[in-house]
Amino acid sequence: MKKISSFLSITAIAGVLMCVSCTSGQDAGIVKSPFGTLPDGQAADLYTLRNEKGMTVKITNFGGTIVSWTAPDKNGNYEDITLGCDSLSGYLKGTPYFGSIIGRYGNRIAKGKFSLDGKEYTLATNNIGNHLHGGLKGFDKVLWTAAPANGSEPALKLRYTSPDGEEGYPGNLQVEVVYTLQQDNALKIEYSATTDKKTVCNLTNHAYFNLAGAGKGDILNHELALYADRFLPVDSTLIPTGELKPVAGSVFDFTRPVAIGAGINDTGDAQIVAGGGYDHCWILKNNGNTLKLAAVLSEPVSGRRMEVHTTEPAIQFYSGNFLDGTVVGKGNIPYKHRTGLCLETEHYPDSPNQPEFPTAVLNPGETYRSTTIYKF
Ligand code: GLA
Repeated sequence: MKKISSFLSITAIAGVLMCVSCTSGQDAGIVKSPFGTLPDGQAADLYTLRNEKGMTVKITNFGGTIVSWTAPDKNGNYEDITLGCDSLSGYLKGTPYFGSIIGRYGNRIAKGKFSLDGKEYTLATNNIGNHLHGGLKGFDKVLWTAAPANGSEPALKLRYTSPDGEEGYPGNLQVEVVYTLQQDNALKIEYSATTDKKTVCNLTNHAYFNLAGAGKGDILNHELALYADRFLPVDSTLIPTGELKPVAGSVFDFTRPVAIGAGINDTGDAQIVAGGGYDHCWILKNNGNTLKLAAVLSEPVSGRRMEVHTTEPAIQFYSGNFLDGTVVGKGNIPYKHRTGLCLETEHYPDSPNQPEFPTAVLNPGETYRSTTIYKF
């Protein structure tokens, strides 16, 4: 018995950082393994979170990125339902934010400019003259400090300090993100941040879902419900025009489940044309900062169904329109047009320039907090 327990503790030192109920490698808990080396020599790790039902979520501290995520179909078969790469080198080559934490400001800021207290700030521009998803080197491209978090469910705590002036933003921002894989097959993501100078902050995750399985065709047969009766029309560079447009009577109406393919190619709708499909922000009906159901996504063949709950006032539904097969994902599969979709919970795009939108300003002494739960 003693020999077995010393063997187990050696194994623990080698790989298992924390087990919630450890009797074998397949039990609930969190396991750390190497994920590769960055060009500057820093090592990235991969953390595998497993719950008692058998759901696994693999997260690397490079970009706080969800690398894979298994969910059960109607027969209880678990399959990877999120797009990503097999190794760190894939992420280093560049991906369209597969599964990563997005910050300091998720979505777009027009022309990369905004003012606070009369002072103008200029951000890095990386998307047809606008600032997108934190700039040239956003939170998706930095190495976070990671450690398992205490608690009865497997959880990973990630920390990053974004220095004053990074990508043009004012203030040292201390960011913490906790991923908790709940026993009810839900992944909870809790974001918090503090600053030492007035700044803006809008954090999200950019997971691409394909509930038929990553790399298994497009998402056009998926059905989506969004608990929103208005959305933000955009200009030709995907910046909101400022209008909050009712969805009723248009292909933007997802107030009941609708197949994504039904309206995605409706070129009679100027907003579908502007987005090249769906790439818009929906304003949630209950847009206070309490946790509420924002979206339900389902795929009829597999029977997989996912709910999105959030404290955020809005959700960006992006239908993978820019995927074109050039990025090769897990299992060497090129991710073609619309083979994954994102449901990014967030404040409205370009809020720093649109005073009628809920504020995304963070002051010293305040704590930014945001929670999103993806539940199967
Ligand atoms: C977001 C944007 C899209 C696109 C993707 C990444 O969700 O809204 O326009 O830039 O990220 O390709």
